[in-house]
Amino acid sequence: MKQKLISAAREVAKNAYCKYSNYHVGAALLADDGTIWLGCNVENSSFGATNCAERTALFSAIAAGKRKFSAIAVVGGTDAEPASPCGICRQVLSEFCSSEMPVYFAGLEGDTIHTTTLGELLPLAFSGANLE
Ligand code: THU
Repeated sequence: MKQKLISAAREVAKNAYCKYSNYHVGAALLADDGTIWLGCNVENSSFGATNCAERTALFSAIAAGKRKFSAIAVVGGTDAEPASPCGICRQVLSEFCSSEMPVYFAGLEGDTIHTTTLGELLPLAFSGANLE
């Protein structure tokens, strides 16, 4: 599954709308029912309005009614300097995904695949104010 998710992420990275950075990122998110949700980065002339690949994939899955996820693959950069999820994406993923969820990341090309977990990427995640 790891290799399948990385391959899917590499394919969707080709669709990245990244005219400002020319930095293609792709994400493939595995839902617990076995479906795979894809996302790429979508940049904007107002740079802060850019959406990362991981959030594109997650939001697409959420809009389709998915709520539980078992892994995500993210690709970007090179084999030597691969993209790993940014801080905002780590936080957004933590809303829906467990800290044990595997996160695979790799360059757009190459054989190296790094494996970590969401909890390793975002220790002591904020999970909400106590509103009771
Ligand atoms: N980017 C992602 O899509 N995911 C990340 O986790 C890191 C950064 C995108 C945003 C922007 O379009 C480009 O990479 C360069 O920062």
